[in-house]
Amino acid sequence: MGSIVLFGPPGAGKGTQAQRIMEHTGLPQVSTGDMLRAAVKAGTQVGLEAKRYMDEGALVPDEVILALIKQRIQEPDAVDGVMFDGFPRTVPQAEALSELADISHVLAIEVPDERIVERICGRVTCGSCGSVFHDTFNPVPANGCSCGNFEEKRRVDDNEDTVLNRLDAYHRQTSPLAAWYLERGLFHRVDGDRDIAAITADLLTLLE
Ligand code: AP5
Repeated sequence: MGSIVLFGPPGAGKGTQAQRIMEHTGLPQVSTGDMLRAAVKAGTQVGLEAKRYMDEGALVPDEVILALIKQRIQEPDAVDGVMFDGFPRTVPQAEALSELADISHVLAIEVPDERIVERICGRVTCGSCGSVFHDTFNPVPANGCSCGNFEEKRRVDDNEDTVLNRLDAYHRQTSPLAAWYLERGLFHRVDGDRDIAAITADLLTLLE
């Protein structure tokens, strides 16, 4: 197996599924969203530039993203491939990636637009370990997160106005990638509007 791309709209469950698939494949999760948030928190030049796009729900320029990816896939844990989460998001990003890594599967998690706002506005993440929960659909267990050190975090871009902009960016700039990967025989769809475990099972079947 080469590297995997987890594809889908904001709130489709890419991060949720990445954590579960990682346990089976051992491939490290490479989330450009997480990398950008770390850069914003650290106050780096990349973070300062990315923040204004992220706060609006717009895509960060391709060259910024590609510089992060090129650096990340040089790291020792990426030698046998990685699981890209939220990357690529434009055709130029996909073209650049095809020169950098061997992609074996693009797994598209399909969720209708009308489900996205409720998913994103109810998201809560553990600041200690990164586990993703939802106020209603996937609540934090009564005894806390499995890491034993639950710290509630909510993203600044998880509000209704920004989500609508993120969805718009997805439809205009990212969804054309489906046809690009279909032409290359790499694209597989799963119905993401179901129970989390059922989606994981389908994704793992596609990877077998
Ligand atoms: P990023 O962090 O990648 O955000 P996103 O794509 O909008 O995706 P999310 O992280 O919001 O959702 P997800 O699909 O991971 O869903 P999750 O599993 O958390 O990007 C943020 C920003 O960074 C972008 O707007 C852009 O500015 C920039 N950026 C990042 N990458 C970029 C790139 N490559 N190019 C340019 N700019 C880039 O699930 C969501 C919620 O739903 C959770 O609460 C979860 O518990 C719940 N849930 C999950 N599955 C289910 C289910 N089956 N049923 C019910 N609830 C569920």
